[in-house]
Amino acid sequence: AAPKIILTRPLDPSFLEGGALLDEAERKGRIELVRWAKDKPVDRQWLLDELRKGGTEGLVCMHNGEKIDDELLDAAGPSLKVVATMSAGYDHVDTAALKKRGVRLGSTPDALTAATADIGAMLVLMASRRAGEGVRAVLDGKWPSMPWNPLLLCGQSLKGSTVGVLGFGKIGQLTLKRLLGFDVSRVLYSTSQPGVALTPEKDYFNTLATAEFHGVDVRPAESYDELARESDFLVLCCPLTSATKGIVGADFLSKMKPTAYVVNTARGPVVDSDALLAALQEGRLAGAGLDVVTGEPNIGADHPLVQEPKCVVLPHIGSATVQARSGMSRDAVRNCLAGVGVEGFEWANEV
Ligand code: DGY
Repeated sequence: AAPKIILTRPLDPSFLEGGALLDEAERKGRIELVRWAKDKPVDRQWLLDELRKGGTEGLVCMHNGEKIDDELLDAAGPSLKVVATMSAGYDHVDTAALKKRGVRLGSTPDALTAATADIGAMLVLMASRRAGEGVRAVLDGKWPSMPWNPLLLCGQSLKGSTVGVLGFGKIGQLTLKRLLGFDVSRVLYSTSQPGVALTPEKDYFNTLATAEFHGVDVRPAESYDELARESDFLVLCCPLTSATKGIVGADFLSKMKPTAYVVNTARGPVVDSDALLAALQEGRLAGAGLDVVTGEPNIGADHPLVQEPKCVVLPHIGSATVQARSGMSRDAVRNCLAGVGVEGFEWANEV
């Protein structure tokens, strides 16, 4: 029988390559596809019930609110071979629980790198140029009462600054590459731990040579303390793990310059929201740009970080280009089809 696959979100085949691949495989009878048909996060109970019917070999899931844990894997039983998440991050997946059962995990770290790097660079600019405050003032009709004046909405310049990148994988490196065009002077980066230099095989975009070409002094930060103390712009691009959870907390923030900015395109919990808010409110940090916030998507207009004028908040749109999402869907579907053994498909990325 054709392997049964469950898909937890519609993938419109006219925009998303993964949707077209799945439709074709289904049409040719190479898979049996069970779809969650609504354009909103899958209902957990529906998914558990479908899995309990038995025989599911592959699961294509999303990152947002879809916890892949013991309960879900028990519901799927021994037939499950692969979980393919349409995301780069997989902090929603209990990897140990998968490993224990021999279930393989696919993710999509390549297709979204450019889009997420764009948003990182954009948030650096938006935060430092106080674009959020500016847009808010215009929308609130306040422009007539705030004519141009020498220090109106002045931020800090990227030119001549030190950029710190915490998490120097593909997204961190490409975000930096975007920022090099703004004449930064110095870069401190931290790979999986401070003090470790980027190896040539992990320098995915010739980033170090490009920085040198731009006359930028680039080296690994010796410690998180140094990253905190020296960065004018700190960009967070690391995965969320037990080691990075809350890493930008009260202690870290207390070492930062009052003229510095924090930008987070990683996962909300990498930053301690309360500590960030306190630093902004007390003038110990100049601003923040957040594409991700702890507790998302339940971040109402009354959330203190949304209310804080020095903070620009976006609703997790780092990978939101049609091109990136299409590539992510393609890679997730490839991972799943390869994982269940459909001929002609190879893994795009196995975790
Ligand atoms: C990811 O892929 O991990 C993003 O956060 C969702 O687009």
